[in-house]
Amino acid sequence: CGIVGVTGNDNAVSILLEGLEKLEYRGYDSAGIYVNDLNGNDYLVKRKGRISNLEAAVGPEVHGSVGIGHTRWATHGVVSVANAHPQYSEDHRFYLVHNGVIENYKELKAQYLSNVTFESQTDTEVVVQLVDRFVQTEGLSTKDAFLKTLSLLEGSSYAFLLMDSADPETLYVAKNKSPLLIGVGDGCNVVCSDALAMLNVTHDFLELHDGEVVTIKPNAVVIEDANGNHVDREPFHVSMDAQETDKGTYPYYMLKEIDEQPNVMRKLASLYTQESGRPNVDQTLIDTMKQADRIYIVGAGTSYHAGLVGKKLFEKLTHVPTEVHVASEFAYDNPLLSQKPFFIFLSQSGETADSREVLVNVNAHDYKSLTITNVENSTLSREATYTMLLHAGPEISVASTKAYTAQIAVEAILAKALGEAKQQVIAEEFDIRQQLGLVATGMQAITDEKDFIESLAKKYFVPTTKAFYIGRGIDQTVSLESALKLKEISYVQAEGFASGELKHGTIALIEDGTPVVGIITQKRTANLTRSNLQETMSRGAQTFTIVRKGLAQPDDTIIVPDVDEMITPLLSVVPAQLIAYYTSLNKGLDVDRPRNLAKSVTVE
Ligand code: G6P
Repeated sequence: CGIVGVTGNDNAVSILLEGLEKLEYRGYDSAGIYVNDLNGNDYLVKRKGRISNLEAAVGPEVHGSVGIGHTRWATHGVVSVANAHPQYSEDHRFYLVHNGVIENYKELKAQYLSNVTFESQTDTEVVVQLVDRFVQTEGLSTKDAFLKTLSLLEGSSYAFLLMDSADPETLYVAKNKSPLLIGVGDGCNVVCSDALAMLNVTHDFLELHDGEVVTIKPNAVVIEDANGNHVDREPFHVSMDAQETDKGTYPYYMLKEIDEQPNVMRKLASLYTQESGRPNVDQTLIDTMKQADRIYIVGAGTSYHAGLVGKKLFEKLTHVPTEVHVASEFAYDNPLLSQKPFFIFLSQSGETADSREVLVNVNAHDYKSLTITNVENSTLSREATYTMLLHAGPEISVASTKAYTAQIAVEAILAKALGEAKQQVIAEEFDIRQQLGLVATGMQAITDEKDFIESLAKKYFVPTTKAFYIGRGIDQTVSLESALKLKEISYVQAEGFASGELKHGTIALIEDGTPVVGIITQKRTANLTRSNLQETMSRGAQTFTIVRKGLAQPDDTIIVPDVDEMITPLLSVVPAQLIAYYTSLNKGLDVDRPRNLAKSVTVE
């Protein structure tokens, strides 16, 4: 979910709505705002669906200088206006927006609020009703009632933004596990889940730590820690331009982000390697990693898939055994760790709750860690020992593209640096700077073939309800990512598979016309995957190939340029990204905002 708030600005309504538009990637099933003009007028508007629905419902009478807003990705309660935020107390005095999950809300409701009429099914309404209850029955101030309520929320994750219509100038904020920032403006202050939302108001932000509570007025921000002590903190500056988050002339962010990949590769090469080709990576990070006897890579979704490629790179270039784990599994089903583990967190957003849960445990054991992320100052970046940034520019489309390739490129650079430090000849000989140059040109060549790829998508993938991507080794990892892209945005039931394993069961699903795409970039396994494609063809499949040039045969479908076999995913994934894009587009779907998903998932 996404949260925004502002106090001390007469344009509160437009600041909130523009902020919510920027945060739509965090959830978009319903949205709402509450605004107060400090003259006794207040307005609550909530709608199902996109921010555009909310905007259409906000009439010219809605105005004020203080307000809060929310865009929702439903956890508790169906998608409805009643369940949209802001939630409010029975007497309409308190208004609250929330991102997170309150684990014990049912118990609290039964214990304190049995005589209250609830309008929603949300855990959030319980919280706002509790604040009201403690103010009304115990005579507590709003802040003390808020603190008392927070103290009752066992093991919960939350970012809260609360308003009291009896003292509307003040915003109350608290956070635990879920991200939230305070933006410091000129005579006004703002609150947001992501700095992107408020770049039109300010570029200076205060980070918040778990357990802190903040009181915000137009000219003051008071941060207190869990024990009520004042915390002094300097804002950090976000240099990103508000325009960087625009789509420009592109119909969808996803296509823009696919096309940006060559530039991201060039940028990473110039930032993380020297002209000599030597890596340019923090020496203390390499020294720390040198001590490790095993690397554990943790991620979710596409980042997990980038980790699967990373495992191959680290094992080849550094000879350090490397495991890759789905964050939500690792957090509660810990594998047996080696003596000297080193953790790498992959996360575009740097906020994924599943990954963060693992990092909290890693820190509790004093293990060293690195976060590879696109977002400076994000939670996973702040809390890990080291950070390497992806420098990919904001990724807005829910389906991740440039963050995946950037993650792989950074892993390759890091593996080369560590491998060299360990005097591995293969690492010394691997010219990552030159390779990334080739990758950039190769990506450009593939994205120049959009018309051809769109024709394939229209003819074979738009009409189908299921599809397969298959490959072996590193190509299998790309088949998983390729299938995920297709599923996420075109709703084709797609599966990525180890091509040799298909015949051991799953081949039963192949029917006449089922599209099966073979990814073939590795010399050693090329012929095997070709045979596995034949097996599906014999059972009616319509097969395609994405093949590295050096292995191409006359009837191959998409040829990607040659690069070192260790980094072929950087190229073989691009046609699959475009197939997913054009399938979704030609089905008339919203490419950037697929159903049921959110880009940044800050609940476990
Ligand atoms: C969500 C998104 C995915 C993304 C995953 C991990 O589920 O829909 O596209 O891969 O989170 O996100 P992260 O920001 O940690 O890479």
